[in-house]
Amino acid sequence: MKWLWDASLEFFGWNEQPNTQNRNSFYTTAEELLSENLNHVALLVTGSLSGMGQHTATLLQQHGATIFHFVKNAPKDSNNQTEYFIEMDLANLSSIKQAVECFNENYSHLLQQLHPLVLCNAAVMVPPKLVYTKDGFESQMGINYFGHFSWIMQLLPILNQSYLCKSNPIQNIRIVIVSSVAHRFCHFSPLDLQDLHWNRRNYYFGINYFFAYCQSKFALALFAKELSHQLETLPYFRIYCVHPGVVKTKLGSEAMIHPLFYCLMHPFSKTVAQGAATMVYCLTSKEIEHQTGKYYSNCCEQEFDTLVQQNASLSNQLWNQSLQETNTKWFIV
Ligand SMILES: NC(=O)c1ccc[n+]([C@@H]2O[C@H](COP(=O)([O-])OP(=O)(O)OC[C@H]3O[C@@H](n4cnc5c(N)ncnc54)[C@H](OP(=O)(O)O)[C@@H]3O)[C@@H](O)[C@H]2O)c1
Repeated sequence: MKWLWDASLEFFGWNEQPNTQNRNSFYTTAEELLSENLNHVALLVTGSLSGMGQHTATLLQQHGATIFHFVKNAPKDSNNQTEYFIEMDLANLSSIKQAVECFNENYSHLLQQLHPLVLCNAAVMVPPKLVYTKDGFESQMGINYFGHFSWIMQLLPILNQSYLCKSNPIQNIRIVIVSSVAHRFCHFSPLDLQDLHWNRRNYYFGINYFFAYCQSKFALALFAKELSHQLETLPYFRIYCVHPGVVKTKLGSEAMIHPLFYCLMHPFSKTVAQGAATMVYCLTSKEIEHQTGKYYSNCCEQEFDTLVQQNASLSNQLWNQSLQETNTKWFIV
């Protein structure tokens, strides 16, 4: 039952740590964490037109960062030299490939001056029925996990090049992967590598469609851990995994249970600014600069679930299976 205790620490904010000048807590807002100028920074972000992704991108932009929004429906060109929109549907591997190619051709030269930060934030939760992505993935696993896996795999060589071409790189490349406390619920319904896309199990039995979301967030946690391991030889890559907190956004709004869920969760809920805080903390905080492959919530380090910590072979199997299923190559030879 350790997972239940760990989940409670996150829900109630009991994992606050005094070593951060009593500043960070359940209630800390993203705004409180940022004071420095970020005009040397580029943020590459998914799902940044709503919710916590939008809040984070807007705040970083206000502090001078250049934002690259990788979004499903890009608005018309903004003519703003610090904000670029690249169309990318995470439910479609060829759209992800095109988006990265577009970024590489048109914008990667900007990374010669800017230090990239990456935020894997977009997600769907509990769609009303079992939907498959263009490539035949169950939609929550396909968008939340496989989409980001493929995006990151294709971005890595570009990010790496941007670091190597700088004569005096002053900053590590941070990749922040947004998971959720929901990754702990895989104690009820484990990730099944033989049936990642729910072809054999009944999606509609009980709350399996919610467990499919939990499993996608569990896969992201395994990915964060495995990616930090695979990048050990390139120590300027730093990987952080985040649970933002329970926040009423449009996430899961197609589900009938959405209003009841947020009503029940109200006592444990944060505002969007409070939810964005742990993302901003992992993207910018100097005190965790030397960390990698760790999990954070309420702006503090928190242990991954034991299922993630003690499952190095599962994360490696998922890694290899994901390379195959997304038809991508690992860029380090
Ligand atoms: N809210 C919570 O209580 C909570 C709790 C734990 C973890 N999280 C995590 O926090 C992150 C942000 O969630 P949020 O609450 O801010 O949700 P949100 O407002 O619903 O934002 C999700 C974003 O993902 C984008 N997206 C969905 N499908 C996509 C696709 N196929 N391709 C590209 N983008 C797509 C959406 O874009 P469109 O609008 O264009 O569809 C939307 O902007 C998510 O990873 C979520 O799992 C949230």
